[in-house]
Amino acid sequence: MRVVAHISDLHFGMEDERIAEILLEDIARFHPSVVVISGDLTQRARKKQFEAAGAFIRKIPVSSLVVPGNHDIPFYDVARRTLTPLSRYRHYITTDLNPVFQDDELMILGANTARAAAFKNGRISMAQIKILADKFCAAGSHLFKVLVTHHPFLPPLDSPYAALVGRGALAVEALEPCGIDLLLSGHYHRDYLGDLQSHYITVKRSIIVAQAGTTISKRTRGEKNSYDRIIIDPPDICFYRYTWDGRRFAKTMTTRYKKVNGAWQLYPQNIQETRSQDFR
Ligand SMILES: [Fe+2]
Ligand SMILES: [Fe+2]
Repeated sequence: MRVVAHISDLHFGMEDERIAEILLEDIARFHPSVVVISGDLTQRARKKQFEAAGAFIRKIPVSSLVVPGNHDIPFYDVARRTLTPLSRYRHYITTDLNPVFQDDELMILGANTARAAAFKNGRISMAQIKILADKFCAAGSHLFKVLVTHHPFLPPLDSPYAALVGRGALAVEALEPCGIDLLLSGHYHRDYLGDLQSHYITVKRSIIVAQAGTTISKRTRGEKNSYDRIIIDPPDICFYRYTWDGRRFAKTMTTRYKKVNGAWQLYPQNIQETRSQDFR
């Protein structure tokens, strides 16, 4: 059994310091196996914003896996955006743009989808798809395999035409045979779950998509700050959503799946919490 904390779209420069503090306390308390941060660490890729994001990540008391988002590429500084788009990310966060977390139960690969040219929507390259497929396919089938990107593969339910990561269809076609079971992304500041099969007719296998909202930034776009705690215990997987209620992160939704004959099926007793409650 493994526990993953999925946080996203921190947007340092627009962060709420108190929420960031409480988030670190939560992480220290439930002590996940790894914290996944699916991009947009900063608001405008400024030095001070990256310094703050780096300081925050160093305070996380467990392993973390980070990918950049479109906001981590400078917007106004055209020279920097064109020539060295992720130089500050590399300097302050990590030089590793293809991060890996692996233990004896879990394999998580991250891929950078932030692009200076496709500034907002992002893209995955054919070279990245090959690297990911090689690593996922070479890994044992006993591992639960997870891909992390900033840009999503699945639109929000109420926005079926929302832009998705470029070459996403090619990526899922290549990665599906390698046994991936979960995709984690951010970008839309919306927390939602779905199955890749609902959107890609070429996908023959059930693969869960879990989108995180913005965890600590004031760019909430109508949805409260949130993060997800994911319990991976094959053939079961459970997603707990924690939503900021003005004082703390409270559990607001529980979604359970079980893998039956290769397909992820929702447990019938999925619970939409009507009252806020702590996770303890
Ligand atoms: Fe964002
Ligand atoms: Fe984004």
